[in-house]
Amino acid sequence: MDKQEFGLAGLGVMGKSLARNLGRNGVRLSLYNRYVPITEEKVAERAMAEHGELANALGFEEIAPFVTSLAAPRKIFLMVPAGAATGALIKQMLPHLDTGDILIDGGNAHYQDTERRIKTLQNQGIQDLGTGVSGGEKGALEGPAIMPSGDEAAYAAIAPYLERIAAKDQKGTPCSGHIGRGGAGHFVKMIHNGVEYAEMQLLAELVYLLKHHAHLEYPAIADVLTELGERGAQSYLLEITINILRATECETYLLDTILDKSGNKGTGGWSTVAAAEYGYPASMIATALFARYTSARKTERVAREAQYSLPRRNFEASTEALFGAYQISRIVNHHQGFQLINEANTRHDWGIRLPEVARIWTNGCIIRSSLMESLIPALETDTSLLAHPELASFTQALHSSLVQVCNAAS
Ligand code: 6PG
Repeated sequence: MDKQEFGLAGLGVMGKSLARNLGRNGVRLSLYNRYVPITEEKVAERAMAEHGELANALGFEEIAPFVTSLAAPRKIFLMVPAGAATGALIKQMLPHLDTGDILIDGGNAHYQDTERRIKTLQNQGIQDLGTGVSGGEKGALEGPAIMPSGDEAAYAAIAPYLERIAAKDQKGTPCSGHIGRGGAGHFVKMIHNGVEYAEMQLLAELVYLLKHHAHLEYPAIADVLTELGERGAQSYLLEITINILRATECETYLLDTILDKSGNKGTGGWSTVAAAEYGYPASMIATALFARYTSARKTERVAREAQYSLPRRNFEASTEALFGAYQISRIVNHHQGFQLINEANTRHDWGIRLPEVARIWTNGCIIRSSLMESLIPALETDTSLLAHPELASFTQALHSSLVQVCNAAS
């Protein structure tokens, strides 16, 4: 029997969606998921029965037959949680792998772990490609943004598969590309998430101002955000915020049923630690992370709010000013994110090309936006977005809006 082309291990939400995407694109797959009595039994088999795209895949609950079902050099996507789970899976797989086999670590691993792992595995003849995957469950299924790094020849062997399943940019080019050497892919994905934290925080602050200072109802806030989108601030995060503002359940606004306490999975914290390590002032990412920590301390927040009972002033900034303040803050956020990548890139000599990162981030990923499109040409000429002449004059023109909004919100 012909060997399968591609393996995928770990059929959680992201793994299953990526597998379905590969299957839909005609890739002959072997699927592996561990066996855990009661909670994880026949996971691959069930996925294959439920999803037509996986009907021709082979399913496994044991590592050895899974690995041996694959054609050499083996190409295996690892879609298990970063850290101990990924380490344990690789350890189990290693005795069955041969020189030249390629692992694609698609979890949100810490880039320093990836750097270490790449070296250890290379000593054993195995290539590990640290690969950032963005877009959540829907993105993984319909087309994610993919950020692989590591050995270039290994990348070349898996590129046709990643390119088939990735989102496509405005020119139809896949939102996937070799990010650089070593742990560059996971570093870039980590900063993507840091920028995502700050973009989400900006939207949260916009909604807060419009709700508590301007006293607008959720649908009216959604209308203001829709206008922002129509005036050039289009983004995936803006779009889903508008949908959430309008969503109701049993005649109650969904937002009123959600506790205002935010958790995090750690990548925003890692980005902030990296900023401190590289001595780069990524204030937007750090502030957004700390705002999440503040939100999580609800009991204390509520108690201090009652204790201090500070008045909330009426919001007296125009929609125009709000738009300007939002855009200038987003430019600074993106500037800082790319600068932090640039800083680490210089330190590690990873060979990252910033315009290519921006291009990959124009579709499929969570921070895709019309702003990101405009950053590609800017990054071609300046690694510092704030130094780019056109962006600088745009930013300067928006400065008074930021001042107006900060005053009105104080
Ligand atoms: C993505 C997302 C996804 C998730 C992050 C952040 O690119 O698909 O970034 O990876 O949103 O893990 O999660 P938290 O916000 O919970 O830390």
